[in-house]
Amino acid sequence: MQANVTSGALPLTIAIDGPAAGGKTTVGAMLAKRLGYLCLDTGIMYRAVTWQALNEGLAPEDEPAVTLLAESIEIDVKPASKDDGRAFDVLIDSEDHTWDIRLPEVNQNVSLVSSYLGVRRAMTLQQRKIAARGRIVMLGRDIGTVVLPDADLKIYLDASLEVRARRRFEEENQHGTTITYAEILTSLRRRDEIDSSRQHAPLKIAEDAVVINTDALTAAQVVDKIISLFPHPLSPIP
Ligand code: CDP
Repeated sequence: MQANVTSGALPLTIAIDGPAAGGKTTVGAMLAKRLGYLCLDTGIMYRAVTWQALNEGLAPEDEPAVTLLAESIEIDVKPASKDDGRAFDVLIDSEDHTWDIRLPEVNQNVSLVSSYLGVRRAMTLQQRKIAARGRIVMLGRDIGTVVLPDADLKIYLDASLEVRARRRFEEENQHGTTITYAEILTSLRRRDEIDSSRQHAPLKIAEDAVVINTDALTAAQVVDKIISLFPHPLSPIP
């Protein structure tokens, strides 16, 4: 597969897609920092809609109500205001819900909520507006296929289910959660199944994406690999 990088110019829009816990967040943040680009993790937006729906007592199965909510919710990402392991603050209607959107009940319901066409339309609209400014690394499931089909560079980050579950287990452990490895494995498998088989914007590899399997790579190695795809490779970090 071929990257769609314009010859002689840095890619201004970089799409990174892939399954749950595939390392997009870490890699995307590192890459964006190295380039001085904005990193938008679109998973946050679907998580925010899901958390807010649950918080308002809506049934996640209530598609019309959840869609209305998605059309009016205000989601913002700001630099980290606390030193508690967060990479940034996630604000929902101006309130800090950075950790709430990672709760197990959000993990359980986010793929259902993300399968609704109206929810996807509302989120895609916001994502395209942000990307129009350029100099962006956007992370998700459908960025290269639907949100930014003309992205300058498309990456699909893959890893085996076991490696992904182990990484997520270690992350959860650091935050003191008591969830087991087996529970994480089951939850990731279920989410991948729903995300890949849904009717609207399913998780799939864009035709012109470069697939990178991260099983045996550190995040820094993945970033180097991505940068090596650029027409004029950046100089290595001193
Ligand atoms: O961080 P993790 O890999 O666990 O997932 P995430 O990127 O935070 O995404 C959470 C969920 O949002 C996914 O399982 C998808 O159901 C949904 N999602 C989506 O449908 N489309 C996107 N562009 C991003 C996330």
